[in-house]
Amino acid sequence: MRVCRTIGEVRAALESRRDGAVALVATMGALHEGHLSLLRAARSECATVVMSLFVNPTQFGEATDLNGYPRDEERDLAAAAEAEVDLVFAPSVDEMYPPGFQTWVEVEELGSVLEGEHRPGHFRGVATVCLKLFTIVRPDVAYFGQKDAQQVAVLRRMIADLALELELRVLPTVRDADGLALSSRNARLSPVERERALALPRALATRDPERARALLAGLDVDYVAVAPFDPPVLAAAVRVGHTRLIDNVPLEEE
Ligand code: PAJ
Repeated sequence: MRVCRTIGEVRAALESRRDGAVALVATMGALHEGHLSLLRAARSECATVVMSLFVNPTQFGEATDLNGYPRDEERDLAAAAEAEVDLVFAPSVDEMYPPGFQTWVEVEELGSVLEGEHRPGHFRGVATVCLKLFTIVRPDVAYFGQKDAQQVAVLRRMIADLALELELRVLPTVRDADGLALSSRNARLSPVERERALALPRALATRDPERARALLAGLDVDYVAVAPFDPPVLAAAVRVGHTRLIDNVPLEEE
């Protein structure tokens, strides 16, 4: 497994591998089974698997969230090697955002509702970094999780609007045995908070916004809404203590 730190290294390393399909799995590290499910699908479907590992500062609102984001590169590189990733792109912030950087991708409507309303600028950061990763890696297929349904909707729109030549593959949300969707932020929950957080998957499992809202009554709710994505989802965001959690369930077959 190759680890590249610069855009130039990635381009040079992939030059000789364009005969088969190139997959990209974009991550911010702190890898868990959700990420691994994407890597496994990529490994079984594509000749070359590239994983990016970059905690993208421009998609974080609060500095405390960015600074508190779990980072353990050594462990993530071991997990990537275990998943038979061919190349990891782990750039510095300066490599992705060189001095003078001022070009942004704004997916206007889809990026400003739900998550976008509660996290202004979040999807601008996501869309910009993903477009840059797509330009650097030039994947044939990019793998994303349904866990972040609005992220998928935003990226799908960007790909269509800018006529990008790649296929988006979306894989189901991986959950713990108790129903909580895997997230690197789950590590911040105390045992009591984790028990309270279980109201989120239970509420969404009703697939009914009114019943979901009632089941979430004891929590600090940012939104519960049916979102007209493809597929439509019942989505919610809640805060449990200092931790913000999002989840959704598709309302049609995935
Ligand atoms: P990150 O949160 O690290 O997630 C990387 C990918 O893993 C995303 O496509 C996300 O939807 C998927 N994922 C996370 N938890 C999952 C779960 N429980 N089940 C299935 N898939 C899951 O999403 C990002 O990073 C960033 O926004 C990124 C796209 C890398 C841009 O910076």
